[in-house]
Amino acid sequence: MSEIRLDDVLARVAVSRRYRHVSDEVVRRLATEEIVKSHNLADAEKRTKRRLHQIFGAYTGQPDYPQRLLALARAIDGGDAESVREVCRLAMAGHVSTRERLPILDRFYAELLAVTGVPSVVCDIACGLNPLAVPWMGLPAGARYVACDIDSQLVGFVAAALDLFGIDAQVELRDVVTLPPACDADIALLLKSVPCLDQQGAGAAARALAGLRARHIVVSFPVQSIGGREKGMERTYRARFATLIDELGWQERRVQELSISGELVFVIEGER
Ligand SMILES: C[S@@+](CC[C@H](N)C(=O)[O-])C[C@H]1O[C@@H](n2cnc3c(N)ncnc32)[C@H](O)[C@@H]1O
Repeated sequence: MSEIRLDDVLARVAVSRRYRHVSDEVVRRLATEEIVKSHNLADAEKRTKRRLHQIFGAYTGQPDYPQRLLALARAIDGGDAESVREVCRLAMAGHVSTRERLPILDRFYAELLAVTGVPSVVCDIACGLNPLAVPWMGLPAGARYVACDIDSQLVGFVAAALDLFGIDAQVELRDVVTLPPACDADIALLLKSVPCLDQQGAGAAARALAGLRARHIVVSFPVQSIGGREKGMERTYRARFATLIDELGWQERRVQELSISGELVFVIEGER
């Protein structure tokens, strides 16, 4: 069997329409893990893309970000809050995680902020398109929003959208598996991403949370699968949350659970 070169796998992923904007670091990490299990270059490429699908491609296609940004700019210029929300809803429909949250968005942030208070600094880890929900967050003037994800197009879109909202934003391309965030925030969000980080290695989710300094840390889980069918997910993820708390040694921290159907949401008291 001929040796499979990492650079050859990376070169193939780099010309893939779907994954060419995913952070090099992430592709390199996954390809390295898959090469040792592969028969040949084509197999390594297929396996690497399958992993990329699991952690990214399954959630979002290739939305027309420039068009959505233009629509957002027009709506903000128009000054009608409901039009702005409508454009944000349409944009959030471009990612499965936020699309699923749309029917519960009003309740989600109303109930969350009733527990945490309105934050001045938000840290949104593995953010997807959730930062487009800022019109539901009631952030004060001068608020700061720190966010990260692994696709440069998505990250660029989120940064530009937050800029249009006049928010002081720092949106980064960051692989939280290799570089866990160290934010200092009022609330830190890790929404629906624990299962995705679990697929990238034991302890990855705990490491992504361990370095946060926040008054409240919000961890949520999906309770419907991407195909839409509930499969005992709530029981499974409730148990996963308990093991995550153990991994972090946070058993003494106060945890409040929000009763929002469609998403299992835990608010953990932080240490800021
Ligand atoms: C299930 S989605 C959740 C998105 C968002 N938090 C929400 O609930 O709307 C998981 C997100 O994690 C991102 N992601 C996956 N692996 C990551 C990694 N290693 N570092 C940072 N983000 C990652 C994906 O690109 C995807 O947007």
